[in-house]
Amino acid sequence: MDMKVASERRRALEQYRLRATVYDSELAVFEPMRRSAVARMNLTSGDTVLDVGCGTGLSFDPLQQVIGSGGRIIGIEQSLEMLDKSRTRVATQGWTNVTLLNTPVELANTQAQADAALFHFTHDILRNPDAISNVMRDLKPGAQVVAAGLQWSHPWAWTTNCFVMMAAMYSTTSLEGLDQPWSHLANYLDRMEVSTTLMGGGFIVSGVARA
Ligand SMILES: C[S@@+](CC[C@H](N)C(=O)[O-])C[C@H]1O[C@@H](n2cnc3c(N)ncnc32)[C@H](O)[C@@H]1O
Repeated sequence: MDMKVASERRRALEQYRLRATVYDSELAVFEPMRRSAVARMNLTSGDTVLDVGCGTGLSFDPLQQVIGSGGRIIGIEQSLEMLDKSRTRVATQGWTNVTLLNTPVELANTQAQADAALFHFTHDILRNPDAISNVMRDLKPGAQVVAAGLQWSHPWAWTTNCFVMMAAMYSTTSLEGLDQPWSHLANYLDRMEVSTTLMGGGFIVSGVARA
C-alpha cells in the first residue's frame, strides 16, 4: 500500500475511533438531511442497498422503513469502533437482513449486485476514485445512487464556510474536493441531479448507475 494512502487511513481510523461513542448525538442535527437523502433513493420494498461508510448505522432505520424485511442492507465501514455501534443497533432492532463488512470501501467485496448505494457524509470515500469504482462494480445498471454531505458554499457565505471547514477538519482527512465532492461519482451516473441545503453548505446528489 502506498505510504500516503496508509497514513490517511490511519488518520481516518483514529478520528472515528475517538468519535464513535459521541457520533450519534453529533449527527442529530443532520437527521432531516439524511431523511431527504434516503427519500431521493426511490427505493422499493425488497431492494438491496449498499450503505457506503455506514458508520454507526444511522441510515439503517430510514432504509429499513422502505426496503422492509425482504430487502437487504450491506453496510461497509473500515472503523471497527463505528461498526460495533452498527452491530449493536442491528442486534437491538432484531434486523436479520443487514450484512456488515469491516473493510475499507476500496477493498470491499460485497458479492452483491445491489439496487442502490448511499454515500451519506462520506467525503473521504467520495474523493477516493478506487473506492467509487469498487462500489459501482457491485451495483446493477440503473441502480439508484445518492450522495449527501458538506461542501463549500458561495465565497461570500463565510459563516457557512467556517462551519463547513471546521466540520470537515473534524471528519475528513483532507479538504480537497469540497467545491464539488461528488465529482468522481459523476463519472458513473446518468440523470444526475444536484441540490443544495444548509445555506449552500450541504449537497444531495442523486443519479442512476450508468450501464
Ligand atoms: C462522517 S461518518 C458517516 C457515517 C454514516 N454514513 C452516517 O451518515 O452517519 C464517515 C464514515 O466513513 C468511514 N470511512 C471513511 N473512509 C472510509 C473507507 N475508505 N472505507 C470505509 N469506511 C470509511 C469512517 O470510518 C466513518 O465511519
